[in-house]
Amino acid sequence: MCCLLLLLVVVISTAEVRSKNTCDVIPKDVYLEVGSDTEIMCWCLYVHGKVFWTLNSEILPQSWSRSINSSHTAVSLRNFTLHKATLQCHRHDTEEILGGTTIRTYSKPTDVGCMWHYKNDSWGGVPQLFTCSWKHQLHVSEQINYTVQGSSWLNTSQFEICSSQVNTCTFKDVHLSGNITLVGNHNVTVRAKTSHWEVYSDPYEFEPQHILQILPPKLNLTALSGHLLAEWSTSAVSKKHHCQVKYDKVGGKDASEKVLNKTLEPRVKGKITIDKVESCTYYKVSVRCALDKAPWSDWSREKRLVTQLRGSDVKLQLWRKVTEPDQDGIRKVYAMWTEIPSTCQGAFLYSIHLTANEHHGIEIDYVHTLCGSSPFQISVNEDAHRLKLKVYHNDALLAEDSVYVPAVGETLPRVANVQTSSRQGVIHVSWDAPAQTVTGYMIDWTHDGHQYSWMETNSTSMSLFGLLEKKPHNITVTPLFDGKTGLGTQALHICSSVSGLGRVFIVSIEASDKSAHMIWTTQPQEVCSAVLIHYVVFYRTEQGRQLNITVDGTKQEIDLKGLTPDTQYSTYVMAVALTGVGHSNTRHFNTKKFDPRMVRPLIIFGVVIIVVVLFVGLCCAIQWKKFLKKQVPNPGLSSVALWPSASHQKGMVLFRPFSYPSESLCEPVYMEQPQPISTPDTHLDPTGVHKEQCIDPAVVAEPDKRPHEPENTFNQSSSMESTGLLSEGGSPLSPYRSQSSVESPTQSGGQEWKRLLPMTHQELATPLSVYVTLDIFDQYQGNFEN
Ligand SMILES: *[C@@H]1O[C@H](CO)[C@@H](O)[C@H](O)[C@H]1NC(C)=O
Ligand SMILES: *[C@@H]1O[C@H](CO)[C@@H](O)[C@H](O)[C@H]1NC(C)=O
Ligand SMILES: *[C@@H]1O[C@H](CO)[C@@H](O)[C@H](O)[C@H]1NC(C)=O
Ligand SMILES: *[C@@H]1O[C@H](CO)[C@@H](O)[C@H](O)[C@H]1NC(C)=O
Ligand SMILES: *[C@@H]1O[C@H](CO)[C@@H](O)[C@H](O)[C@H]1NC(C)=O
Ligand SMILES: *[C@@H]1O[C@H](CO)[C@@H](O)[C@H](O)[C@H]1NC(C)=O
Repeated sequence: MCCLLLLLVVVISTAEVRSKNTCDVIPKDVYLEVGSDTEIMCWCLYVHGKVFWTLNSEILPQSWSRSINSSHTAVSLRNFTLHKATLQCHRHDTEEILGGTTIRTYSKPTDVGCMWHYKNDSWGGVPQLFTCSWKHQLHVSEQINYTVQGSSWLNTSQFEICSSQVNTCTFKDVHLSGNITLVGNHNVTVRAKTSHWEVYSDPYEFEPQHILQILPPKLNLTALSGHLLAEWSTSAVSKKHHCQVKYDKVGGKDASEKVLNKTLEPRVKGKITIDKVESCTYYKVSVRCALDKAPWSDWSREKRLVTQLRGSDVKLQLWRKVTEPDQDGIRKVYAMWTEIPSTCQGAFLYSIHLTANEHHGIEIDYVHTLCGSSPFQISVNEDAHRLKLKVYHNDALLAEDSVYVPAVGETLPRVANVQTSSRQGVIHVSWDAPAQTVTGYMIDWTHDGHQYSWMETNSTSMSLFGLLEKKPHNITVTPLFDGKTGLGTQALHICSSVSGLGRVFIVSIEASDKSAHMIWTTQPQEVCSAVLIHYVVFYRTEQGRQLNITVDGTKQEIDLKGLTPDTQYSTYVMAVALTGVGHSNTRHFNTKKFDPRMVRPLIIFGVVIIVVVLFVGLCCAIQWKKFLKKQVPNPGLSSVALWPSASHQKGMVLFRPFSYPSESLCEPVYMEQPQPISTPDTHLDPTGVHKEQCIDPAVVAEPDKRPHEPENTFNQSSSMESTGLLSEGGSPLSPYRSQSSVESPTQSGGQEWKRLLPMTHQELATPLSVYVTLDIFDQYQGNFEN
């Protein structure tokens, strides 16, 4: 059973082998050196007949293919350069693929070079390091091991120098190995090896001296008048060698580096002078050397040095500005000159000589010695003068220059039609040449009247650079001739550039209901401010569209019209100039509900109304109060006494004449419950009804419900008294009880009211008032009736 199963497996697997592997291409995974030839075989066990080949799906010419016997066919590939390719073998009749293989190529290392050199910190002797480098084109990211192998005339067998996995390798301490010596031919090969292939570079042959890199030279730099002197020493003094000196200005803008070559014979010291250097300027210098045919050493350490001043480099450019003569005919001359740069070493002495009347041969020398500050001020009279400036360096005259100061009113040529324009901070000046021949022109310019710049030119136009921006400049053009100066022609207040607009500020907004008056201002305009063309006032409600009004540049106020009452508006002002615009900040304002012009009359009217209403209200209140408080005491319960005079009364108001007409529209009427006659001692009823009613006098005249009670007429002022009385009215003991001075009332029967007190002469003068309650009559009525 088991054997049967095994047999079955064997039969099946054999069948598989036969169906699959009856054809194939060999070898598999071919690695070729670029440009080499190869032959690939296609074989079939069972299939016989012709085959054809494809390389990367392209059919190869039949001629490349060669039939070996019935089962084997070979294809030859010559000078194969593809990095990677797929080669397939097909049946000729069915085009069925019988097998295939991949072919990859590799190249050998090239450009091998080696250098024999020193360690960084060494000081000579035999160089310790041997470094080789090479190039290698790769199309695969396979790890490659490189080995540098060498042989020499001493040791012809290959010896390994160094190995690495990158394109360079260094053999340290080569001087100890003895394999590479200073003399004789050597050669070197680089082997590149991966797991699939191995390739050797072409051998590289060298003489040790030609690959020897010497140490960088030691440089010594000296600044001499007008030039620099570079001196250096190398470790190769005993052999012929070449050196290069490179130098440049420190901080030079352009790559103005220059190189000087110098070949040194054996035992000649390195030394070179660097001419063509600028005065008082820092230079950097370094040097490198190489043995003949050998690589350059590294550059020596850079040395820096400032050059000395050369007399011919000194350009004093003496110039002067002359003021108008004062009352005494004295003019001030400001002499100015280009100073010697502060980088120049040494002491410089300046002296100014003033020579007057040179035409008349009279030379008066005023000598001022100073230590070089420009401008320098001298006073001269109205005559012509010549200023001479001399500079001494270490007591030797270095340079001198002179300038002419014309006499007042001297007729001299001058330029005409000075025209200026400015653009982006540069002022361009042009002028017309004078009729006389001139040798040139001096242009001077200032932005503050103290600091001047000046420049000489031969042409009739000039561009002034490096100006302070947004400043007015005064520019003067003076012709020069025969060592003299002509008269200057000025162009005043030329702005180097135009500043932006000043800021705009909204000063006030006075809003009415449908309009608003707005005032704004701009920051003070400067000389070089942009010229304002107009303003645009923008305004809008929160939701509404933005509206605008253009305002003439001379005005700074506007009335915004057609606004909606009781609405918030925002507004800002834009100043418009040719060069740009300036904005104010945004301000908000609310329009009024009503026209404020209507408000004043309305207010006045309202106030009048309020006053009237208040007056009426007050009157009513007083009357009401009076009604409430006025309680006429019952004279029937009181004894009659002499009333104290008004001046003795406290808190009591004098009675007015009874006949006094009522001041109020409201006539109070007081009523009290009738008290029983039989009980004359009855107190004032605390709960006594006292009603106040606003009654027409006419109504008052009408008969009351109580026919017995006569009408009362009260004076307003008596309310004070009645208040006093009422406050005590609730108490069982009325103050009237304690009245001591008793007099019998004068009775006059039948009269509804009567005089209670006899008139004194004082009382005759002061009108008297009488108060009466209805009860009094009730009580007396009884008495009278009795
Ligand atoms: C055909 O040639 C190949 C290679 O030369 C050889 O290996 C093979 O045995 C040959 N086959 C026959 C049937 O001769
Ligand atoms: C390369 O060198 C390393 C160590 O030197 C070694 O482990 C590796 O097998 C080498 N590879 C090949 C392809 O020779
Ligand atoms: C200096 O030598 C280099 C190469 O050696 C050369 O390219 C260069 O032109 C030479 N310079 C001068 C100024 O001769
Ligand atoms: C330019 O000249 C005028 C007239 O002489 C003078 O008033 C003004 O101050 C000068 N301005 C400057 C900046 O020097
Ligand atoms: C102007 O021209 C004269 C002679 O034509 C020359 O000597 C002088 O150097 C020139 N000056 C300038 C600033 O170019
Ligand atoms: C002012 O408003 C008008 C339309 O109302 C518009 O065409 C114009 O562009 C506005 N002006 C500015 C400066 O926005």
